[in-house]
Amino acid sequence: MVRGHPTDAAARKICMQVNLLCIGDTVGRPGRFVLSQMLPKLVEQYDLHCIICNAENAAGGSGLTHQLYEKFRRYGVHLITLGDHAFRRQEIIPVLERAQDIARPANFAQAAPGKGWAVHETRQGPKIAVITVLGRLYMKPPTDCPFLAIEKALSQIPQDVRIIVIDVHAEATSEKIAIGWHFDGRVSVVFGTHTHIPTADERILPNGTAYITDVGMTGPYDSVLGRRKDRVLKALLTGLHVPFDVATDDIRLCGLLVSVDSATGRATHIERIQVNSDASVSDSGAAGDD
Ligand SMILES: [Fe+2]
Ligand SMILES: [Fe+2]
Repeated sequence: MVRGHPTDAAARKICMQVNLLCIGDTVGRPGRFVLSQMLPKLVEQYDLHCIICNAENAAGGSGLTHQLYEKFRRYGVHLITLGDHAFRRQEIIPVLERAQDIARPANFAQAAPGKGWAVHETRQGPKIAVITVLGRLYMKPPTDCPFLAIEKALSQIPQDVRIIVIDVHAEATSEKIAIGWHFDGRVSVVFGTHTHIPTADERILPNGTAYITDVGMTGPYDSVLGRRKDRVLKALLTGLHVPFDVATDDIRLCGLLVSVDSATGRATHIERIQVNSDASVSDSGAAGDD
């Protein structure tokens, strides 16, 4: 890794295996419910040190509110990323301007509120940064070059942060894997989000970067990408405008487990997980906000 090995005693003292869980688009109340239900178990089962979660679909399927940001933190999420729906709920803007643990796409306009990377310091010492970018193929809104935006973020992230994760929020598989190859060996993880469908291509690239094209959504899978099947089908079959309400059933948490050597920043283990909720969202009491 470009950031190299620690040279001082203090850095050597905290050399350890850092276990990360990267979670994709968390959709509405079902997605929040399965997080609240499953994260404590996963932390214990996998000895997790840092949980990164894309929350662009948290509020009723689009955007994130202040209140829900606080809930994600209470559920145990350490770093939050957003995507093309980042500003759908403008209540999130003061959080983006103040909080250090949430990132909106780094290739948004320069004047956009918030910043494109965030850092978490683990209790054990190692720090983890996450950068998020939007792809440019088949995506709205128009954005700057994601490669350059990542380069800029890498130059801004303090040098003592050796574990860097990129969330590529993009439609095109080609753009995601291209970003993976380009930054192989310079970051610890590149994980894709936005398409809401898990892909089966997780691997560690030759220079030590863990990669997956899409971790899949966390939410209701008896759906079309988290929305009610009947609504989406009506829209597709008739061309009518139909509200795409969030679906409710077959709730799953999908994520990517990655172990990273904190001294080198290289990934040493990668594993895709999918956990079914053991209750329905109506039993959950995970109330409030859509
Ligand atoms: Fe998205
Ligand atoms: Fe999404």
